Amino acid sequence: MSHEIVSAFISHMTTAMSSYSLYSGMHPMFDEFSGKALQLVDELYHDDAFSLLTFNNSLIFNNVPLAAKGMHVSSFLKTLKKKKIEKVVFRKGLEVDEFKKFITGMASRETVSSSPHLSVGIVEVKLKAPDSDVRSLMGDGISKFESVCQEISKFKTLDIIGLDDAVLSFISTLKKESDVLRIISPVKSRSDYTYVHAGNVSVLTMFQAESLGLGGELLHDIGLAGLLHDVGKMFVASSVLEKQTRLSEDEWTEIKKHPVYGAMYLSKLPDVPPLTVIAAFEHHMRFDGRGYPETRRWRKKQHIVSQMVAIADVFDALRTERPYRKALDVRATSRLLKERAGTEFNPALVDNFLSSLGHVTGKPHYCQG
Ligand SMILES: [Fe+2]
Ligand SMILES: [Fe+2]
Repeated sequence: MSHEIVSAFISHMTTAMSSYSLYSGMHPMFDEFSGKALQLVDELYHDDAFSLLTFNNSLIFNNVPLAAKGMHVSSFLKTLKKKKIEKVVFRKGLEVDEFKKFITGMASRETVSSSPHLSVGIVEVKLKAPDSDVRSLMGDGISKFESVCQEISKFKTLDIIGLDDAVLSFISTLKKESDVLRIISPVKSRSDYTYVHAGNVSVLTMFQAESLGLGGELLHDIGLAGLLHDVGKMFVASSVLEKQTRLSEDEWTEIKKHPVYGAMYLSKLPDVPPLTVIAAFEHHMRFDGRGYPETRRWRKKQHIVSQMVAIADVFDALRTERPYRKALDVRATSRLLKERAGTEFNPALVDNFLSSLGHVTGKPHYCQG
């Protein structure tokens, strides 16, 4: 099967999608290009159906990765990711109305739903090798995040698809291994602290959210919020961030601006969920409102996701050795969280986190009382 036909199909479909979002379903271009795409489907069927699925930033047509990677393919991929769709199956008998409904769903804020000859969903069987262990999945997510960050510093753009992939890797680790302490990665060198810490905070935040019964798209957005909580540090001079000796007051003031830098940066990007902006801004605010940034309006109003990120942040930071202090073990870290419950942290969330940890490991991680 010629991949040129698939590329043409995707190109007509994405043109119809942009015509719909730019003008409306009444515009002649919408009709023209959805018609052109529909004319090609007969040539794409194999055994009465064909599928398009996403995997690792590639579009897979009938289980073969598409060689062509034009503007239309990447825009289609981006929309699928945004809609959290991993797979689309087109079946023989596809009607004009079903197809147009799919295109308008993709081009608008509406949910894309399946119809008799077109189904959308997630890939049931993960394409990862079955023996890939949680460490390597976790490592995959962290390296994806690292490359996204390098692009931010070079081109000032944010690859949201790469970030989504990183979060999906973390979600897979959580599904494979219930003991989160076995998932979170150790920091091997000073230079990888930023990325490993971000990945660990993402996993530890989703671990808490999942134990509270949250799932689906919201869990994914919470994972992104954890991953991006410190993104503002990219705008703080590395000489200050990596300083091995005591910080001056001015340097400390500069570091304390990272929540504002992060929230400002994320709020300007079109595709990031608002939760990421909130958590970036609020993760140092503390439960009692005595942290930073100091604002009257936000005082004592830290969002529950920011409260979970704050717990994950401190838990991971304390168990990592830093130039100015030794690493604490899980027991000491847990005790510290407990001591700061009610002031720095939401006590109900601390209880939930520690009891969930104890639940999966079979032993309590803190001293009572
Ligand atoms: Fe931070
Ligand atoms: Fe942090």
